[in-house]
Amino acid sequence: VWTPGNFILNEIEKIREMVGDKRVLCALSGGVDSSVVAVLLHEAIGDQLTCVFVNNGLLRKNEPEQVVKTFKENFKINLVYVDAEEEFLKSLRGVTEPERKRKIIGNLFIKIFEREASKLGEFHFLAQGTLYPDVIESVSFKGPSATIKTHHNVGGLPEKMNFKLIEPLRELFKDEVRQVGLELGLPEDIVYRHPFPGPGLAIRVLGDVTKERLNILREADFIAIEEIKKAGLYREIWQAFTVLLPVKSVGVMGDERTYEHVLAFRAVTSLDGMTADWGRIPYDVLARISNRIINEVKGINRVVYDISSKPPATIEWE
Ligand code: XMP
Repeated sequence: VWTPGNFILNEIEKIREMVGDKRVLCALSGGVDSSVVAVLLHEAIGDQLTCVFVNNGLLRKNEPEQVVKTFKENFKINLVYVDAEEEFLKSLRGVTEPERKRKIIGNLFIKIFEREASKLGEFHFLAQGTLYPDVIESVSFKGPSATIKTHHNVGGLPEKMNFKLIEPLRELFKDEVRQVGLELGLPEDIVYRHPFPGPGLAIRVLGDVTKERLNILREADFIAIEEIKKAGLYREIWQAFTVLLPVKSVGVMGDERTYEHVLAFRAVTSLDGMTADWGRIPYDVLARISNRIINEVKGINRVVYDISSKPPATIEWE
């Protein structure tokens, strides 16, 4: 029978045999797949593994700090932290078209990853968190939707980099990866984390991507997720997130007129991201999310709930 414990033992042996005394590079995103790969590789080959984490400035609140803390401090993994926030924000300046955002971010990530890798000496292997659904492309999110949106995956690196691939998760489904992650001692926060797109918050800030607008979204997103967790709904939901709209609306605060951003909250249920239904979140939870965001986040005076299913809408707005 398949157990996470057996899987780990087997893979460790396979990895050691394959790698020998060579070095392995891994692009860590902080998502569950690349996190499990990093810890598994580290168990197998220790310091022969180097992980690179690129902070593109488009991550959620506290996320970069959490990645460094978990992998560098707790797991003692060789982790190279690259602060590329300014570079990403500069290249996104004035860009509002969703596909252009996606392409700019995908290309810049590759450029930065190559640049950093070349500083780190010679590697023979690249470890990636490819899952079974990515292998059988038909059920992967990269299938039909790839023609609709250019998906950028932190794991998907350029072929011209001359590496042999190590993909220890390529026969697993997401729920099995989560079991392996728990067995390896990864925090539940990472193991059960909702999917997050490679282009990050840039495709959730509709219109201009500025630091100020990203920060507004970050605060709102943090509150929404906190309330979803408090209500015990986080694990039932495929994804919950907020989207900052390029629209302002009139409101009233005390006796004063306000004219501020509109924020959309979206929560969907899904099995694989290919189709999705909008989540029937209890009204009182929606009320708390809306009240807290409007009271606590400066710059937002209206929250709307997205009641569109996929298809015909997609999960992300861009
Ligand atoms: P859509 O918006 O196409 O999203 O309905 C389907 C699922 O894929 C995630 N998504 C991405 N994941 N890179 C990723 O790794 C991307 O560029 C990307 N774009 C969307 C989305 O969050 C949802 O889970």
